[in-house]
Amino acid sequence: MLGLSHRNRKYFYSIFSHPVSRVMKSELFIKYFKLIDKRDSVLDYGSGDGPYKEMLKHYFEHYVAADYQVTNAHHSVRPDIFIDDNQNVNVDDESFSCVVISEVLEHVYRPHEALQEINRVLSPNGFVIGTVPFFMWEHEKPYDFHRYTYFGLKRMFEDNGFEIVKLDYVGDIVGVSTYGFSKLLGNFIKPIRKIKPLHFVLKTIISIPSILYYFLVKVKFIKSFFMKYFGEYPFGFVFVLRKSV
Ligand SMILES: C[S@@+](CC[C@H](N)C(=O)[O-])C[C@H]1O[C@@H](n2cnc3c(N)ncnc32)[C@H](O)[C@@H]1O
Repeated sequence: MLGLSHRNRKYFYSIFSHPVSRVMKSELFIKYFKLIDKRDSVLDYGSGDGPYKEMLKHYFEHYVAADYQVTNAHHSVRPDIFIDDNQNVNVDDESFSCVVISEVLEHVYRPHEALQEINRVLSPNGFVIGTVPFFMWEHEKPYDFHRYTYFGLKRMFEDNGFEIVKLDYVGDIVGVSTYGFSKLLGNFIKPIRKIKPLHFVLKTIISIPSILYYFLVKVKFIKSFFMKYFGEYPFGFVFVLRKSV
């Protein structure tokens, strides 16, 4: 996953080149990111290819990327520091005012350990902001361990010393269906991926339902009705937490 694009200080993923689930989660992530007023230092926990790196470096004085070595090997960007097998990072207590954890918790076999470590490195009243999938195929195999519900996340965050500022569903059954549909058809066109122009055209065609869904949500045509009744089938969640004091 490449980094966010940006134009006039606006950071975004294009719906025409990224999965709708990622685009919608990151839009809410960026919206909530603006709520965070403590902008000294940020730890990107499970940084991967660092899609938010440029944005975080723009807003924070100090940016540190941390990743788990084994799984990071499959990414194209190396972190500043590694996370060890017990989920620890070699930094002082309370040394960051913000921790970003984007699409990582599903890969952590013992998520409570990760949350305790994040709590340790956060300064008092520091923030955590992140995303996690709910509807997502197994990925980064075999390091894909969990799918969390709203209630599982809430309890896990509170049990590990965080107050919930935001915890929101992203997407609904319509979005998940359009996305599943394009993934399904995507499998059929895999054999022709070397014929690039044809593959591109077909890929675009099968993404149309997802793209249409995205724009219908944007103009609030879908959201109010479907989220009300079918919000329990989300792409995933976006959360903002504050370290409880
Ligand atoms: C789907 S990628 C997300 C990367 C990046 N944060 C993003 O938003 O694109 C999952 C990330 O989790 C990391 N990861 C896997 N196991 C981990 C663990 N036990 N502790 C911390 N990070 C882990 C991987 O190395 C990878 O960077």
